[in-house]
Amino acid sequence: MPSSTQTLQAQATGPRRNPPRAVLFDAYGTLFDVYSVAQLAEELFPGQGQALSMLWRDKQIEYTRLVTTSNHGAHYQPFSALTRAALVYAIKKLVLGPGKALTPEDFLLEHEPAIELLLAQYQHLDAFPENLAVLKQLKAQGIALGILSNGDAAMLQAAVHSAGFDSLLDHVISVDPIRKFKTDPEAYALGEQATGLAARDILFVSCNGWDALGATWYGYTTLWVNRYQLPFEELGTQPTRSGADLRAALDFFHP
Ligand code: LAC
Repeated sequence: MPSSTQTLQAQATGPRRNPPRAVLFDAYGTLFDVYSVAQLAEELFPGQGQALSMLWRDKQIEYTRLVTTSNHGAHYQPFSALTRAALVYAIKKLVLGPGKALTPEDFLLEHEPAIELLLAQYQHLDAFPENLAVLKQLKAQGIALGILSNGDAAMLQAAVHSAGFDSLLDHVISVDPIRKFKTDPEAYALGEQATGLAARDILFVSCNGWDALGATWYGYTTLWVNRYQLPFEELGTQPTRSGADLRAALDFFHP
């Protein structure tokens, strides 16, 4: 018969489970700070840097959903192409403003240099400050580590290399080969296929609430890293745990 302390503990924390056997991280927004481009955007478009980086990100994610859910994927484009398209949209909306349409040629003539600079910066996004140490500690504990991202292989490789994560990651998984973006279940299934583990035995870590929710629905053990003190998605399911930064991932591995 369990002691009363054990029973209380079980009630407080739920049934005790084995620690996850691998950790998969979302890339953009979780390992790499997508809003770190705001400073360059501000230099290029004074007064609009913050707004531009936010609209760029929102549009990029909206486009992933649009091409995944429409016409059975007939309009699929890799994440790098959607990232460019979303940037062009954001510049047209915020910099040109209403009623100031340019011909495609004049738009490119005027804004192509800024577009190229911002996209180049996207290959070298800042990693959040604690991330390298967290990856190193997990790796030292012998836990398999990887990325499961909407990004295509070339952009992921560049970002991983730039952040110095190469030797720490066992898997860099892109959804590009299946031409479907998260939160499509086929995209989350890639994590199980690459690791050979069941989703519940994998910790999936994302700062994006929608991604943490999609992964939880799929069956992963999940950590939502809530860097910006936001409310979680209001759709009735909670992530396994929440934390303020990536260090919360370490807590899954010591009781
Ligand atoms: C990714 C985007 C969704 O890396 O942040 O998959």
